[in-house]
Amino acid sequence: MEEYIDRVLISKEELGKRVVELGAEITRDYEGKKILVLGILKGAVPFMADLIREIKLPLAYDFMALSSYGVSTQSSGVVRILKDLERSVEDVHILIAEDIVDTGLTLKYLKENLRARNPLSVKVVTLLDKAARRKADVTPDYNGFSIPDEFVVGYGLDFNEEYRNLPYIGVLKQEAYEIN
Ligand code: XMP
Ligand code: MG
Repeated sequence: MEEYIDRVLISKEELGKRVVELGAEITRDYEGKKILVLGILKGAVPFMADLIREIKLPLAYDFMALSSYGVSTQSSGVVRILKDLERSVEDVHILIAEDIVDTGLTLKYLKENLRARNPLSVKVVTLLDKAARRKADVTPDYNGFSIPDEFVVGYGLDFNEEYRNLPYIGVLKQEAYEIN
């Protein structure tokens, strides 16, 4: 599997250290509040699993699955909800957990959709931010790492559903796109 990795962008150790810092920051900011950590399937799963264990507050978590219309690697801003929340969010502070914010179109749609359900607040924690590609006016409240405009895989991020189980964030070799 790793023969197609050009280089490691963020190591397992760097990921672990940053997740601990984000957890501590979130713990301070939400002291005394009820949080619902909302993971966006499937990319956010490894990050969210590690992050929630660094948030030292009582919390609940749930998942949504979204799909963007259009070509698979590009966001169109038109989002379809494949899996929705099962319960009302009126009495909770929602913390969306994302793997990566790229154009921001998915996140903008999601935040508007959730706000219409009258939660106490909606904030976003993302592992990665590719701010150079932003099209929508959204800024994550917590960001693990700002990354350059390169296609990355690992720690939840995939290429054709593969590489999600790599313990680091890596950049794929050109050949990986060509053989698929
Ligand atoms: P937006 O709407 O912010 O979409 O453009 C974010 C979604 O795009 C996918 N994405 C990536 N997935 N490596 C990936 O594996 C990348 O470098 C990458 N950039 C964007 C991802 O599904 C994310 O949720
Ligand atoms: Mg995704």
